[in-house]
Amino acid sequence: MRCYFRRKLSQSAFPLGDFVPIPKPDTRIGGSGMTQTWSKADWRSKPRVQMPDYPDHAALAAVEAQLGKYPPLVFAGEARRLKKQLALAGEGKAFLLQGGDCAESFAEFSADNIRDTFRVMLQMAVVLTYGAKVPVIKVGRMAGQFAKPRSAPTEVIDGVEYPSYRGDIINGFEATPAARMPDPARMLQAYTQAAASLNLLRAFSTGGFADIHRVHAWTLGFAEHDKADRYRDISNRISDALDFMNAAGVNSDTAHNLATVEFYTSHEALLLEYEEAFARVDSLTGNTVAGSGHMIWIGDRTRQPDGAHVEFCRGVLNPIGLKCGPTTTAEDLKVLMAKLNPENEAGRLTLIARFGAGKVGDHLPRLIKTVQEEGANVVWSCDPMHGNTIKAASGYKTRPFDQVLREVREFFAIHKAEGTVPGGVHFEMTGQDVTECTGGLRAVSDENLADRYHTACDPRLNASQSLELAFLVAEELVAQRAQRKAIAV
Ligand code: PEP
Ligand code: CO
Repeated sequence: MRCYFRRKLSQSAFPLGDFVPIPKPDTRIGGSGMTQTWSKADWRSKPRVQMPDYPDHAALAAVEAQLGKYPPLVFAGEARRLKKQLALAGEGKAFLLQGGDCAESFAEFSADNIRDTFRVMLQMAVVLTYGAKVPVIKVGRMAGQFAKPRSAPTEVIDGVEYPSYRGDIINGFEATPAARMPDPARMLQAYTQAAASLNLLRAFSTGGFADIHRVHAWTLGFAEHDKADRYRDISNRISDALDFMNAAGVNSDTAHNLATVEFYTSHEALLLEYEEAFARVDSLTGNTVAGSGHMIWIGDRTRQPDGAHVEFCRGVLNPIGLKCGPTTTAEDLKVLMAKLNPENEAGRLTLIARFGAGKVGDHLPRLIKTVQEEGANVVWSCDPMHGNTIKAASGYKTRPFDQVLREVREFFAIHKAEGTVPGGVHFEMTGQDVTECTGGLRAVSDENLADRYHTACDPRLNASQSLELAFLVAEELVAQRAQRKAIAV
């Protein structure tokens, strides 16, 4: 059964936002005759999975209290703006590009790494915008992507069993009992790193780095291969168009959009103590925003309809992602859509399909049917990474790049057959020249994996593979656009 409930709107303006006590700030009143309430701590009474048991409860409470006083990283108006843009992606009038690390790490934190990932995302966005002629919504898996679900609670390293590594916000990667102990103080460091990352991303976005006139400069440091040539070709055409516009009086001084980009952050809302600490009341509406990032998502392992993660996410106003895997049933999806998007708001819910190459045809059509039966507004995005992880003969976890490409192609083909909209893509990638996924134009082989395998968790696409993927997605979008035009005439 679908139950609709509406958030209670504030009766008056709260100019001082969070500093003004608002009575029952998180309460929502049911719109269909039933009363529903939500508060940011309700998840605590629900079954939780994939979260650490902190041994020191007092230390945990102290950290939560401290984080609760810290400034949020994002504001409600930004999350609402992203939601509006995602609504366009749901209609095929924009396209979501979401990407970044599998897990951000304290050790790999540097300005260069942030810049390089940001730059590759800009390049991918150029390729996509140029091909598909729609705005590309850029969302980093950045500035908060620290907590990881794991397939087993423990792992054996050199014959010794340790608690699994769960991301730097929870415990340490190092294989020692002390490092693997969940430590709440890590949340403070994660917050500091997220704040500094976001600060740099905001500076890059608006401070000149992302000015489209620099489209050539973003290639610097980029290895030579034929996709780099194709990128250069597009850059030349864009420069040409910019010269023409400049002659016509349109340039970065007169047109703000040429000089800046909008860049949003996202992460899996896994560690709910951290999420709750940054759940803040929006001064404009009295609703609650997850202040830890613009968009948050629920992972494939934590999407239990009655579980803690769904309970937390259903009450915040941000755009929400929901990973859908082979085990996602129609029944669960119905309940999840009703819970997470009771008002069927466009742009609120992005379904991130991650089935694995060769399996998309078994699952995507049935879930598309469920969405259609419910008349639900969703954005369909494709994560071609998480269904394609294998163990290489060398022992490294890897993803064959051709399987990644294949899943993307299957995703587009099925949307084409169903007449539905492929609204976005979701990748694990980095601007670094790593060797974590096999294949690609500069063929990384099983034997190469050890060369530059730096990920703290899952294997990422390197800069060159990311660009190659962007060209494939652009081609698919161009074909889709041609099909829509053909239908329209
Ligand atoms: C992830 O996105 O890093 C992840 C763990 O994905 P999933 O929940 O789809 O397995
Ligand atoms: Co991952």
